[in-house]
Amino acid sequence: MQEQFYRVIAIDGPAASGKSSVARELSRQLGFVYVNSGAIYRAITWYILQKRIDPEDGECITEVLKSAPITGALQDNELRVVIDGVDPADHLRDDCVNEKVAGVSQFPEVRQVVAEKLHKDAYSHNLIVEGRDIGSVVFPDTPYKFYVDASPQVRLQRRAAQGWRDEIAQRDRADSSRPVSPLVIAKDACVIDTSLLTIDEVVSQIIARLKQLGLPIAS
Ligand code: DC
Repeated sequence: MQEQFYRVIAIDGPAASGKSSVARELSRQLGFVYVNSGAIYRAITWYILQKRIDPEDGECITEVLKSAPITGALQDNELRVVIDGVDPADHLRDDCVNEKVAGVSQFPEVRQVVAEKLHKDAYSHNLIVEGRDIGSVVFPDTPYKFYVDASPQVRLQRRAAQGWRDEIAQRDRADSSRPVSPLVIAKDACVIDTSLLTIDEVVSQIIARLKQLGLPIAS
């Protein structure tokens, strides 16, 4: 019998648009497992930097990933990324990772590894997956697609409030202009500008839309 994906809610958008906070709160309210696909790209970037692999050498990265399994540890309804047996959570926001992750994530082979991991997760859980290409490329058949955005000023303020150094304009450019799976709005995605909204307001809009789409939700 052919395996089938569980339900997948895709939340895409640029850096600091509010994806993570919204996806976490949605996961709490709906009981779906939360997956941050950006964290998987960050884990890969951290891993290859730590192994002193050139982050611009796609072939070498692909080779290294063949012997570094990417798995997940379910904790509080969130699938945390584990690479080669190590949970790199404390390093995912390191400056060197912020700087190199957009470059590493442009390699098609790296994207393939991440997509396969996400597909595997969707064979065993209902998921809320945040990222850049989740609704457009990784799960194009899910009806539950959202694209969250915010003005550049608001996104910069959010990063500053988090105390992270992150060249988001530079990453936006790289994420939107790469040839493979660039950041785009999937044609059937519901677009939400979060600039002037609280997390709860965004979550309410998403839940209203999910109900409209027929997702069975209690209350
Ligand atoms: O969401 P984030 O800022 O943590 O993502 C880090 C980087 O990973 C981002 O600059 C681009 C890449 N990414 C991607 O290419 N595709 C995804 N689905 C998620 C993230």
